[in-house]
Amino acid sequence: MSTDRMRKICIVGASGKLGQYMVQQALDRGYEVVGVCRERSVPKLAAFADRITIVPGPTNDREVIRKAVAGCDGVLTVLVPWGVQQYSSGTAQAVLDYAEPDARLVFSCGWHITRDGKDKYSWRFRAAIRIMTPLARLVRAVEIDDQVEACRRIFASDRRWTVVRGSDLEEGESQGLPVWSRHVGDPVLASNLTRRADFALFMVEALTDDTLIHEAPAIVGRLSPSALAHADGSTAEAPGRSA
Ligand SMILES: NC(=O)c1ccc[n+]([C@@H]2O[C@H](COP(=O)([O-])OP(=O)(O)OC[C@H]3O[C@@H](n4cnc5c(N)ncnc54)[C@H](OP(=O)(O)O)[C@@H]3O)[C@@H](O)[C@H]2O)c1
Repeated sequence: MSTDRMRKICIVGASGKLGQYMVQQALDRGYEVVGVCRERSVPKLAAFADRITIVPGPTNDREVIRKAVAGCDGVLTVLVPWGVQQYSSGTAQAVLDYAEPDARLVFSCGWHITRDGKDKYSWRFRAAIRIMTPLARLVRAVEIDDQVEACRRIFASDRRWTVVRGSDLEEGESQGLPVWSRHVGDPVLASNLTRRADFALFMVEALTDDTLIHEAPAIVGRLSPSALAHADGSTAEAPGRSA
């Protein structure tokens, strides 16, 4: 099933690594692109400057988002927990409030976000989050629990959302569309590694994949050992997909 009408999209957080991959892939598909990024990061989009509209400003500025998402059929949002000013939740709330009524909304985050509490994390992963969350807040650099709050609001929304949960990331040539599962801990995800270009591919593809509406897929590289071993429909709840 697909959303037929996808002409103009907004990418919130366009200047980051994931954002720039998404800009390129959206342009490759012929979409008109509006990119939002901090004023100081506009030069990072120089290579696209004559092909996209850039709306500079903090992504949690509601006026910035209102202007950027107007008339867009889809919005791709990079949720990042920077600073201690509700950056993630402010960004997510503005997108939820101002995107067009039928727009497809796709958000990025990491595996630490759980939708239904059924994800099974390794002790190492749990320990890292438990230690990092208060430490990061203490040095006022990162607010991991605000990304959790952002996703809580998205999950509670009746908008046409998808929350894509990324594994550890690496650079490198695309390997194609990642495979996914509903729950971290499923064997298909065990390799915990995805190419950033393919994270972007999954986000852009989700815009036109209506089967992903109200899903929070956890993704892994399609050529990773666990995907190759298990992406055959044998996972418990959501078979991994292939391109
Ligand atoms: N890194 C990982 O290993 C990993 C793992 C799993 C999931 N993810 C998810 O993947 C997505 C992209 O992550 P990424 O690590 O690849 O980062 P990224 O694409 O480089 O994006 C970082 C974003 O954060 C913004 N940013 C950086 N410092 C900021 C600050 N002080 N205040 C406000 N915004 C700031 C950047 O904007 P500027 O261009 O303006 O700096 C950029 O839009 C995120 O949703 C993340 O949760 C990442």
